[in-house]
This record gives sequence, structure tokens and C-alpha cells, in this order.
Amino acid sequence: MSDYLINKLITLEAIIAAWEPPLAEAVYAQVAQDFTGHDFYHCLRVKHLALRIAAGEGLDLEIMTATAYLHDIGRGREFQGQGDHVEFGVAQAEKLLPDVAFPPHKIAAVVGCIAHHEEYAWATSHRPLPEAIRGEILGFQDADRLDAIGAVGLARMFAFGGAYRRPLWEPHVQPGHWEHGQLGSSSYAHLYEKLFKLKDTLNTPTGRQLAASRHAFMERFAEQFEEEWFVKI
Ligand SMILES: [Fe+2]
Ligand SMILES: [Fe+2]
Repeated sequence: MSDYLINKLITLEAIIAAWEPPLAEAVYAQVAQDFTGHDFYHCLRVKHLALRIAAGEGLDLEIMTATAYLHDIGRGREFQGQGDHVEFGVAQAEKLLPDVAFPPHKIAAVVGCIAHHEEYAWATSHRPLPEAIRGEILGFQDADRLDAIGAVGLARMFAFGGAYRRPLWEPHVQPGHWEHGQLGSSSYAHLYEKLFKLKDTLNTPTGRQLAASRHAFMERFAEQFEEEWFVKI
């Protein structure tokens, strides 16, 4: 394990299995140059959030961890206009997991979690979830969404908007209905189009508990941001 450079980024005591360092290394090689808020540290934060949720909800740690590393591996390609990152993530999971000796009987579950990770409660279409991994899918969705809110979520929101050349804010434009695959109308409007909506759509008690302080921080931020924007203070 110690041969992997990635051990400098993930602490040894946090590694859950022998397959994790080589998987992390393979993912790092593909996401280190991401500037949209979906870099390697997003994977690590989501992993730790996923493990918190897995502990609270009795979910499979290996499935949650592997999904955390792989779910956004295609964001760089998506940014280059080379297709949806969910499909690429599924293909990469099928390719990389056997290479790192991930338990073969759990690969389909990771693929399922990646395939459903961008499905939001307010989406206009829904696909049925595979019953056998329903808990892991819903738990992973919560982990990913927790990293989209709070102080880190706000930082990622502005990084994403900048990378995609969105205006900082255009308050004369009403926030629209946002779905996966679309860009927000502006960096700041995405707070209303997505981030503020996430708290009430989380799936698990552990996720909802972890969301409370993050959501409250965004409310304080929005109040100050708009007071400064309109020079009320
Ligand atoms: Fe994603
Ligand atoms: Fe993500």
C-alpha cells in the first residue's frame, strides 16, 4: 500500500481496503486538473460523508467508497463537451474496479449507484431504483449532495460557475427550474435553483442531520451577500 503516492493524500487509517489506494491513484490521475469543483478532494469529502451515512444507515462501506471515487470521474470529459459524466463513470467503474481487485460481486452495485447519483427529487422524469441497492443509492446521493451545500458547496458553486463562464449574478433574471445536465442561469442564482432545495430532498436521517448546519450557513451567507450586493449595509 505504501508505494502509492495517493497515500500522501488519503491517510492510511482511513483506507478501508487494499483496493482503495490503487483506485484512488487511478481516479486522481483523471480528476486532479478539474477546476469545476469536482476534483479529487470532492471525492475524498464525499467518501467520508458516505462512510458517515453508511455507518448511520447500515450500508455497505466498500460500495459507498468506490462510488465516491468514481462517480464524477467523467466531469473533465463532460466539461470538454465529450458526453455526460454519469455514463462515463459507469464505464470507468466497469473497467477500473476489476483492475484493482475490487470484490467482483459488488461491482454491479457501484455501477448502479453511479448510474443513479444525479437523480433529483424535483426532476421531471424518474427511473425506478434497483431494490437490492436502493439503500446505497439513496445514501450515496445524500453524501454527494452534502458536499454541494454549506461553505464548501458555496465555494464549489462559484468555481463551477466561473469554469462554465456563467455571470456572477444577474438579479433581474428569475432563478429557473434546474435539472441535471443544465447550467445554472448564473453562479449565484444556482443557490436558489439547486443548493437551497437540497436539504428537504435528502433521503436518510443521517443525511438530513448533517445538512442542518450547512443549510443554515448558506442562509446566513445569502442574507449578507444580498445586503452587500444592493449596498444596504
Ligand atoms: Fe455527478
Ligand atoms: Fe459529486
